[in-house]
Amino acid sequence: MTIKFAIITCSDTRTLETDEAGQKLEELIAAEGWECIRRVVEADERPFIAGALLDACDHTDADVVLTCGGSGSGLSLRDVTPEATRDVADREVPGIAEAMRVHSLAITPFAMLSRAICAQRGRTLIINLPGSTKAATENWEGIVAALPHAVKMMAGEGHDVQGDLSKKLAAAAARGELG
Ligand code: MTE
Repeated sequence: MTIKFAIITCSDTRTLETDEAGQKLEELIAAEGWECIRRVVEADERPFIAGALLDACDHTDADVVLTCGGSGSGLSLRDVTPEATRDVADREVPGIAEAMRVHSLAITPFAMLSRAICAQRGRTLIINLPGSTKAATENWEGIVAALPHAVKMMAGEGHDVQGDLSKKLAAAAARGELG
């Protein structure tokens, strides 16, 4: 299955040409046979990041939106990407952020300093990755295996609860159990 990605690099200093982490993520996506349909560098402020997230989720076909860049998910007061993500999120998907930290803690104790979150907005998944190319790559490696199933579930092809319920109701009706 092809997964469509948008990458948002949150930075006041990088450009598309100097956005090393974004370029690396684009390569990692291509290596899986998936597609990056948009890569932008957005100003390093919470409302701008939230606006770029809204745009990518609501006005593109992206299944997954990755954030990276200078205004990251660490402890500096300028690290506001998790807050901007919450601003637009319908609900969080904590397991993905937990998986990134578990995977990364085996590499560096600094992984515990990440406040990255993952969230759903409609049928789009937003994933905060760290700013450095190395850290973004390592975090990607911790979650990439689960992305196809996540995207399938968001598209309604995962666990078909509604379909199962309809079948059970039809069977019960056929047995005359519903009056
Ligand atoms: N995870 C991995 N795998 N490798 C790293 O080098 N750096 C950590 C952490 N997670 C790191 C990592 C550090 S130092 C910080 S501050 C947080 O990610 C958040 O990074 P960010 O502010 O660039 O988003």
